[in-house]
Amino acid sequence: MYHQIVLEVGEVVKYIKPGNFIAISVGGETSRMVLRRAFAISRTSDRGTVELIIAPYGSGSKWLCAQSEGSQVDVITPLGTAFGIPTEPVTALLVGGGYGSAPLFGLAEVLKSRGCRVIMALGASTAAKIYAPIEGKRAVTSLKIFTEDGTAGESGRVTDSLPQLIDEHDVRVIYSCGPMPMLEALSGIAVAADIAHQCAVEESMACGVGICMTCVLPVKNENGEVKNLRSCIDGPVMDGEFVQWHMVGTQL
Ligand SMILES: Cc1cc2nc3c(=O)[nH]c(=O)nc-3n(C[C@H](O)[C@H](O)[C@H](O)COP(=O)(O)OP(=O)(O)OC[C@H]3O[C@@H](n4cnc5c(N)ncnc54)[C@H](O)[C@@H]3O)c2cc1C
Ligand code: FES
Repeated sequence: MYHQIVLEVGEVVKYIKPGNFIAISVGGETSRMVLRRAFAISRTSDRGTVELIIAPYGSGSKWLCAQSEGSQVDVITPLGTAFGIPTEPVTALLVGGGYGSAPLFGLAEVLKSRGCRVIMALGASTAAKIYAPIEGKRAVTSLKIFTEDGTAGESGRVTDSLPQLIDEHDVRVIYSCGPMPMLEALSGIAVAADIAHQCAVEESMACGVGICMTCVLPVKNENGEVKNLRSCIDGPVMDGEFVQWHMVGTQL
């Protein structure tokens, strides 16, 4: 179901932080696919490589997954905001939906190296849509899997048992990435538990670099005003409490 793609990006790897994304030109030089495709960076290595997790879906992602070993692709990275790392060694809950778990494994490694306890909860509709590599599991203290059809882990939505998990483990911060309804539900849970929630949104992006305004999300600022922020440059990592989820897709 998912393709794991490793790209050699060289020196630039030093500037990539968990939460940043990469924009890849697809289809080759004569392609009609003019828009780059955005992908979360799952993990980086000191050897100058980045790892991506790609679900072959439409023409761009299928083209990328069909490239043979050694092919060259044109990329721009790092793009977007990164996850903030707590200054204290707290317990962090990382919640991923579908391929949204991709950026959380690199984040888990950084959190663990700072002394944090890392609890991960992954959810998807069915087992084939869970992405949890064995090497990634080493970076987490505990991993819980949920599928809606019960084909792996516990049956039900990933968000169902989180309030209990937050209480049990004294979780101080939630990090998340996945479908918009999951991020919205998590924001409600984080507000009710009075803890921080940093979510990486995956709103459709055309340019990926702040020019076209196709990726905007309504976000409340410190004066209580709701403004459209660009998820490609003001995000993808945002404070879930301030995103006006009920207004997404409506005109301001
Ligand atoms: C920050 C971010 C991280 C992502 N991470 C991953 C990941 O880790 N793994 C993964 O598989 N996918 C990821 N995606 C989705 C990925 O970018 C592609 O959208 C997806 O692979 C489908 O592309 P496609 O070419 O196969 O489909 P197609 O349908 O051929 O193309 C979709 C393209 O059209 C653009 N598009 C569609 N609707 C709109 C619209 N209304 N406005 C502007 N542009 C539009 C999309 O952004 C995309 O570039 C991510 C997206 C974002 C924004
Ligand atoms: S994708 Fe163009 S402004 Fe964000």
